[in-house]
Amino acid sequence: MTIMETDIPEVSEPNSFGLQNGRPAPVRSRRMLEPCWAESDVMDLVCSQVLAVTHDVKTFVFTTPERRPFDFEAGQFITIRVEIDGELMTRCYTIASPPTRPDRLAITVKRVPDGVVSNWLHDNLEPGNWISMHAPAGAFVLPEEDAPKYLFLSAGSGITPVLSMTRTLYDLGSEADILFVHSARTPADIIYRGELEAMARLMPNLRVVEICEGDAPTERWMGLQGRISKPVLEILAPDLNERETFICGPAGYMASAKSLLEELDYDMDKYHEESFDFGAPQVPAPTAAPPIEQGSEEEAAAGFSIEFARSGKMITCGPDETILEAAIAAGMRPMSACGQGMCGTCKVSMLSGEVDMKHNGGIRPKEVANQKVLICCSKPLGDIQLDC
Ligand code: FES
Repeated sequence: MTIMETDIPEVSEPNSFGLQNGRPAPVRSRRMLEPCWAESDVMDLVCSQVLAVTHDVKTFVFTTPERRPFDFEAGQFITIRVEIDGELMTRCYTIASPPTRPDRLAITVKRVPDGVVSNWLHDNLEPGNWISMHAPAGAFVLPEEDAPKYLFLSAGSGITPVLSMTRTLYDLGSEADILFVHSARTPADIIYRGELEAMARLMPNLRVVEICEGDAPTERWMGLQGRISKPVLEILAPDLNERETFICGPAGYMASAKSLLEELDYDMDKYHEESFDFGAPQVPAPTAAPPIEQGSEEEAAAGFSIEFARSGKMITCGPDETILEAAIAAGMRPMSACGQGMCGTCKVSMLSGEVDMKHNGGIRPKEVANQKVLICCSKPLGDIQLDC
C-alpha cells in the first residue's frame, strides 16, 4: 500500500510525545551543549511532562533547562534517586524514548502493588519537579549494524526497551523486517497501542501483533487471544532463525518465551533478554550473623574485614558474600539499585585491598584502573578499605 502524505494521521494522543505528525519534532541546535552526564555520573533533571498512558501506566518525560542532549542507546536503563519518607531510594527503569529524539528522556512506569518508588512517582512526580538520575547503562541494546530481521517479544511494561528500539528503527527509516509481538492482559493494558499501530501503518516493514488474555471492561478483544505459544510463533515467524530476538517482560513470561524458542531450535546466539524485574534492589534481607570468637579457625573462614573509612564502620564479609550483602547484613544501607553490576549506582572508591568483581558493564575500565568498585558484585580477596 502506498502511503500518501495526506494519509499520515495527526498523532495527537498523549503517547505521541516527541512526535509531530508521526515523525520526530525538530530539535533546536545543541551544537555547543555537552551531553548529559558528560561531567558527572549523577545529574538533576527536570520532569517536563507526565502522560497518562493507560489506567495504571504513566510516562515521565525529563529534560534539562538548557535542553542538553541525552546520550544513550535504545534498550538501556537509567537509575533514579528519590527520597521517600526520609529514606534515599534508587530504582532502575528502562528508557522508553528513543535516542533519535535526544532532547528528552522518558521512562514509562506501571503502578504496582508494593512498588514503593513506582507508586511514589505516580502519586507525586509532576512537571517542574527535579529528580536525580544516574547515567544510562545496560547492554540490552540494538546491534551496531542493523540486523536484517528483528523479533521483539514483550509483555506488560517490559515493552519499554523494545519500544525504544522500535521508535529508533522507525526514526532512522530502518529497512529491517521488524516483528513486534506484545502480550497484555486486556486491550486496555496495551501500552502505547495507538502509537505502535500508527507506526506500523507508516512503516511497511514493521508488523505489530498484540496478544491479550481477555477482554477489557469496555472493549471486546478481537485480536489474538491467550498467551504466546509455539503455534503462534510458528505462524508469525516461520523465518524465526533469521531474526535477532530481543525479549523483555516478567520473569514467568521470559522463561516460557525462552523455552518456546529453544523448542523451535532457535539459534540462541541471536537471543537477547533484559531482566524486567530489576526495579527493586536484588539484595538479601539482613540476617543476624552468629558471634565469632577472635583468633578461632572460624574467624579465618568467616571472611575479610571491610572498613568504611568515612563513616568509620568496620564489618566482616563472609567468603560467599558480596560487599553489598555484607553491608546490608550489618544493618547498613549503601546506595544500590540493580544489584547486578549493571547500573553503577553502588560504585565506590577502594582505598586499599583487592576484590573479585564480576560486573555486567556498570563500570568503565578507566574507573576500574582508578580503584573504583561496584560493591553489589564484588567479593573481597582480603581485608579492604573503602572510601565511603
Ligand atoms: S547496584 Fe547496580 S551496579 Fe551495583
